[in-house]
Amino acid sequence: MADKVSVPTLASMHKSGSKIVCITAYDFTFGEIADQAGADVILVGDSLGNVVMGFPTTIPVTLEQMIHHTRATSAGVKRALLVADLPFGSYNASCSQAVSSAVALMQAGASAVKLEGEYLDEIRALTKAGIPVMGHVGYTPQSANRFGPTKRQGKSSDGSSLIDSCLKIADAGAFAIVLELIPESVAGQITEAVGCPTIGIGAGPHCSGQVQVLHDVLGLSEFRFKHAMREIEGRTLFKAAIGEYASKVRSGRDKT
Ligand code: KIV
Repeated sequence: MADKVSVPTLASMHKSGSKIVCITAYDFTFGEIADQAGADVILVGDSLGNVVMGFPTTIPVTLEQMIHHTRATSAGVKRALLVADLPFGSYNASCSQAVSSAVALMQAGASAVKLEGEYLDEIRALTKAGIPVMGHVGYTPQSANRFGPTKRQGKSSDGSSLIDSCLKIADAGAFAIVLELIPESVAGQITEAVGCPTIGIGAGPHCSGQVQVLHDVLGLSEFRFKHAMREIEGRTLFKAAIGEYASKVRSGRDKT
């Protein structure tokens, strides 16, 4: 097994130009599969609200649910850096709320946490407490009520406010920043400007790495996002496999 990935590993990958591979996972089996497939970072994303729980947004996801899924995923992850999302409402009120929520995720097996937006004091407080923080800018799903249906960010401007925001987040101590649905030229400028790795999703190729939602890569989601890197048609394959199993049982060809 290659060496365990740590925050300094990602910093040196960024420096040397080797791309960082990040994918979400929400349970033991897929944590183990993603880890064995060589992902560098496994994110227990609050996208579990969408793909596991069937919610329309990530807003209903609770800290307790994140703790539960982080504990399950961490049981399968040996090499990758395990990052857990701080869900909506678990860090927005104060630094002490952010620290106590993050401590619970770290005690469930995470090695770092991710939060959305310019929570600079909270990033400083978490870093001070020894908790590595990943930032997240551009389209931030926890602000769906503010953004409305328009997803892509920084389109109408030159992206300078996004660049400024990333500089502040990196300066506050974030070890990496997710750039979601922003123009690739802006993502390239951010990657040049900040000292830490950038992890893109729908932000083009000029990032230090990419993150994708597991269900999108495996083709499990019914909906096809433009930015999804769908590698297999899992939904079709799994339906066929379950259908095959059902027909064996119904025809008496089962082996039990
Ligand atoms: O929750 C999640 O899966 C995420 C990624 C899309 C970056 O935040």
